[in-house]
Amino acid sequence: MRLVLVGPPGAGKGTQAEFIAERFSIPKISTGDIFRANVSGGTELGKLAKSFMDAGDLVPDEVTIAMVRDRLGEPDAATGFLLDGFPRNVPQAYELDSILGDLGAVLDVVLELEVDSEEVVRRLSGRRTCRGCGKIWHVEFDPTSKDNICDRCGSELFQRDDDKAETIANRLVEYAEKTAPLVDFYGAQGKLVGIDATGPVEDVTVRAIDALRSYGG
Ligand code: AP5
Ligand code: MG
Repeated sequence: MRLVLVGPPGAGKGTQAEFIAERFSIPKISTGDIFRANVSGGTELGKLAKSFMDAGDLVPDEVTIAMVRDRLGEPDAATGFLLDGFPRNVPQAYELDSILGDLGAVLDVVLELEVDSEEVVRRLSGRRTCRGCGKIWHVEFDPTSKDNICDRCGSELFQRDDDKAETIANRLVEYAEKTAPLVDFYGAQGKLVGIDATGPVEDVTVRAIDALRSYGG
């Protein structure tokens, strides 16, 4: 299955991507995670991306598209993948079609996670991420048993630099202006499936897997 997850910041894309990728045995490819790994590693790409990410703006298309083209050309993505955070505007969606065309493949489905903006602000302001394994937690909705320590691997948790109130506000504006048009774009192609992404994480996972079952395994 070749799948794109779309939804506003804090919709739960990263949270659900883990479960969906495991269930359908496909690699999870998150452009946000790749940028953050580059920022931590101090690479040139990380230095370039950081200023855009800290402002809540999109990283320029040419950089992002080249990165995704490389990643989708890797062997583990040959028979399927889950893209989390790409495409994020209509030009990127056209580029994805072109990348897949070059690989002799087509996108199967786009899963939209639907949540309102009050809920995303609540989710983002309490989000914590594990420095070791990357697992996503929430201080209120999905807390660890010990403060700031990951239950899965024992590493320390951190708060993302872009989860500050003013950056969150700009990320939501960017989403509404640039990413939300993808809903109509993929809807017109008959590739869009939307699910209610509110309620407990496990319930959202069940809805997601049900919605995707007919596309692969
Ligand atoms: P990215 O990392 O993709 O961030 P985002 O789209 O803003 O989305 P988030 O990761 O913030 O939210 P999420 O939907 O993954 O939610 P999560 O599962 O963590 O991008 C970051 C930046 O990188 C961008 O701003 C941009 O600068 C750059 N970038 C990335 N891709 C790009 C591209 N293609 N082009 C250009 N630039 C790009 O959940 C959030 C919280 O809610 C967690 O704490 C979680 O525990 C909790 N939670 C999840 N589900 C539930 C639930 N059901 N109930 C209660 N709490 C829940
Ligand atoms: Mg995410």
